[in-house]
Amino acid sequence: MEELIQQMKVYLADNVALGMKAQQYHWNVEGNSFPQYHDFLGNLYVEINGAIDNIGEFIRTLDAYAPLGPRRISELTTLDETDVAPDAMVMFRNLYNDNNKVINTIMEAFRLAERYTEIGLSNFLQDRIAAHKKHQWMLRSILRGTEQ
Ligand SMILES: [Fe+2]
Repeated sequence: MEELIQQMKVYLADNVALGMKAQQYHWNVEGNSFPQYHDFLGNLYVEINGAIDNIGEFIRTLDAYAPLGPRRISELTTLDETDVAPDAMVMFRNLYNDNNKVINTIMEAFRLAERYTEIGLSNFLQDRIAAHKKHQWMLRSILRGTEQ
């Protein structure tokens, strides 16, 4: 059970990091398709951040405490920080790669939830994998449209 709890903490941190990155990109993106990029990134961060409360509450359901604070989150996450405002396609590439890392994190949590027959959590994680697969499709489609 400890493994599952630990993996859920990593997932919470990854979700915070990915949602924050999408929102920072929503603010900082530039280019001649700015309105579409800005709106796409806005929808992306809202969808991702919408999962945070459930992730924290599932950690409590497992009788553990949810991690708090930006330092603890940055210790736990598998994602790298990007503090320089890059161009739009670099942003979408970063989000595509990070979203894949989050899918891996959720897949591992899902395997552990199944092992410990945490059915409700397993069901939630399946839904989140589906949501991130949809983000993967959209990010991949944006990147493919701009390949030289
Ligand atoms: Fe906004």
